[in-house]
Amino acid sequence: MSKSLRLFGAVAGLLIVTGAQAFAQDADAGKKVFRKCASCHAVGDNARNKVGPHLNDVFGRTAGTVDGFKYSKSMKAAGDEGLVWNDETVGKYLEKPKAYIKGTKMSFAGLRKDKDVANVIAYLKSFSAESTQESEKPADAAVSEEKKPEAKVAIAPVADAPVANHGTYHLGRPALPEEIAAWDIDIRPDGQGLPAGSGTVAKGGELFDEQCAVCHGSFGEGEGRWPVLAGGQGTLTDDRPVKTIGSYWPYLSTVFDYVKRAMPFGNAQSLSDDDVYALTAYLLYLNDIVTDEDFELSSDNFAEMRLPNEENFIADNRQDEPHYAAGLEPCMSNCMPEPAKVTMHARVLDVTPEGEEDESGAGAID
Ligand code: HEC
Ligand code: HEC
Repeated sequence: MSKSLRLFGAVAGLLIVTGAQAFAQDADAGKKVFRKCASCHAVGDNARNKVGPHLNDVFGRTAGTVDGFKYSKSMKAAGDEGLVWNDETVGKYLEKPKAYIKGTKMSFAGLRKDKDVANVIAYLKSFSAESTQESEKPADAAVSEEKKPEAKVAIAPVADAPVANHGTYHLGRPALPEEIAAWDIDIRPDGQGLPAGSGTVAKGGELFDEQCAVCHGSFGEGEGRWPVLAGGQGTLTDDRPVKTIGSYWPYLSTVFDYVKRAMPFGNAQSLSDDDVYALTAYLLYLNDIVTDEDFELSSDNFAEMRLPNEENFIADNRQDEPHYAAGLEPCMSNCMPEPAKVTMHARVLDVTPEGEEDESGAGAID
């Protein structure tokens, strides 16, 4: 045997050993790990591109090739150079995305545990045609069977709804009670509109690690350019104030409403009311407003909770505004003494990272 062949043999042997040592893949456990990915990626029936490309049939696919998804230049280049997704390449990417593909726009710190990597790979494989022989796919078929009647139920009331014979133009139809209920979810500072439910800090911590920390950081400190959710007390008068729930927000109802309505980003309104109570309790904890992990937030004690900055918000009844206070007619024309000048651009409002061309940092002012 020549030296190089022997070397090859040794390396191959090594690979097999590592392969054998790798954790047994568990698709069910992988489904749980996938919650970390679900804000950005969809898989399964009707999966669409979200913050990241859909991951159906990702195994065997050349990197950066899902139609209609705007990849980073680096991901495109990796595909052009022949990168194909398989156990090994997906594994390396998920371990340290930015190290494996420099300049990738996947803002994800990576999975620390080999076991999580192996399991999420097993889960994703059940949605890849290339690996259907090895992995059972029945769950998938069952889901699509189940889904069909459900979809019909959702459409039925719309079809049965009264046809417009109202209004001047007979357009549209009155909203259905279910539609109004789905839309009418706002919660007021005094707690009006809160659903029944409860959740503890400890439970919220688990949910936060699973579903929020990828973007907001384990302690709410914000990964990369994603928003900071905790800290910042005492910075409001600085040039670049850190506005968080603890430092700035006036009412806890906004936290509950925002999380229930819009988070996790990319997978909005997937949380149960109890989950939202738990997460809101955890956000109070991250901001040192409650200190006990057993603290339970519920519809009963919600209205008693106060955020530190509440009193710096004042009700604007216009009485401090000279025109209104004096009962004068407000100025309605030519009110500016000179033409308006643009002094700053609203890049400051853009907190959502878009990729490698957009590294200027949240709150950047042009
Ligand atoms: C914060 C959003 C985000 C999270 C979380 C995230 N990804 Fe991604 N992912 C992306 C984006 C954006 C891309 C495209 C990267 C590029 O173009 O550089 C991507 C690309 C990928 C690709 C390559 C797909 C292709 O078509 O080439 C795979 C595979 C992938 N992600 C798997 C995962 C898995 C598995 C997880 C969870 C463990 C995960 N991602 C978590 C945003 C995310
Ligand atoms: C994929 C990344 C991502 C994930 C995961 C995510 N968020 Fe967010 N979050 C964002 C972005 C982006 C914003 C800002 C959106 C905007 O301003 O338009 C935001 C804003 C927030 C805010 C308001 C912050 C502020 O000061 O304006 C809260 C509170 C919040 N998220 C809580 C959560 C919770 C709780 C979870 C988990 C259930 C979660 N987020 C998961 C990306 C994410």
